[in-house]
Amino acid sequence: MSNPSLLILPGDGIGPEVMTEVVKIIDWFGAKRGIAFDVSTDLVGGAAYDKHGTPLHDDTMARAQEVDAVLLGAVGGPRYDDLDFSVKPERGLLRLRKEMDLFANLRPAQCFDALADFSSLKKDIVAGLDIMIVRELTSGVYFGEPRGIFKEGNERVGINTQRYTESEIDRIARAAFELARKRGNKVCSMEKANVMESGILWREVVQKVHDEDYADVELSHMYADNGAMQLVRAPKQFDVIVTDNLFGDVLSDCAAMLTGSLGMLPSASLGAPMANGRPKAMYEPVHGSAPDITGQGKANPIACILSFAMALRYSFDLGDEATRVEKAVEKVLADGLRTADLLGHEGETPISTTEMGDAIVAALDASL
Ligand code: NAI
Ligand code: MG
Repeated sequence: MSNPSLLILPGDGIGPEVMTEVVKIIDWFGAKRGIAFDVSTDLVGGAAYDKHGTPLHDDTMARAQEVDAVLLGAVGGPRYDDLDFSVKPERGLLRLRKEMDLFANLRPAQCFDALADFSSLKKDIVAGLDIMIVRELTSGVYFGEPRGIFKEGNERVGINTQRYTESEIDRIARAAFELARKRGNKVCSMEKANVMESGILWREVVQKVHDEDYADVELSHMYADNGAMQLVRAPKQFDVIVTDNLFGDVLSDCAAMLTGSLGMLPSASLGAPMANGRPKAMYEPVHGSAPDITGQGKANPIACILSFAMALRYSFDLGDEATRVEKAVEKVLADGLRTADLLGHEGETPISTTEMGDAIVAALDASL
């Protein structure tokens, strides 16, 4: 069997800086665990525009469709702000998401004990937190027709339409149940079936998928407004939350901030299973290209490293190795190592991007 394949797209700004540290981890797995990846590296965003005049070359797009997983840094920056909309760096990212049909956006909220007092919530409410929000990403009210601003009598009316087909709900539900089986085996589905027909259909289809194919996973349903309250009241009651595009947008940002810094947050976007059974997949940190700190060695590489850990778990079925990476991150944080964005206490001095990457590699060594 051929090695699992990875396409690395470092992108712009701090993207290449944090990706350099991820490559150290990838190399470590080859050298120390006998897990070798076929890695190819290419350009995206402003970097691709500079070379090709387009934020994503067709060859790169084609390669992304072939590999087991894409790992992306970040795109964009002030240098590209005046470009025409059609060639803006972000268009490269949007094209990847669209052409790979990545309909499931995974946003974990995981709290490392050493950072628990970074949260705006009380420490005991977030310590040990590990939940996953699965947001439907390619349909719902952001895409439904009719939409627009129309004239109605002598005033205007703004219209957007929440629209979900059974097959769209079916596939996001399956993605959530599959994930749950690799985690705590529990799914909570959130909608507003009390006031929205699309929510009634959502609840029905999720229940049907569960009863037919995932009866081993514990399923509950919750109205999304109550879900928002529960997320800040007692977030540890959840494992996987599955919800639509709009509620997922809001709830995932809310859940992310339970745990603190932007430099710590990974994400994944998954599509349909490929011929080898693996889902189409792209993994990326939630943060952007951070032009304010680019080139200063200040970027926190952990969000990107944890994105690679998600790839290990969700694309390559290497959950134990993903946990090994997460434990290594936990260890360096517990040892008091902090990049500048994680400084919270007097007397702490920051370490650089490179030092953080090296410390995580050393912690991986110590795990053997
Ligand atoms: P940003 O996420 O790049 O930065 C926001 C703030 O967080 C900055 O102060 C930055 O220094 C800090 N920060 C972000 N990541 C960090 C890390 N790993 N370590 C330490 N500090 C970190 O968002 P911003 O400033 O709104 O956007 C900057 C550029 O990035 C824009 O061109 C924007 O379009 C693009 N962007 C790209 C995204 C992507 O590629 N997925 C997502 C968000 C923004
Ligand atoms: Mg948002």
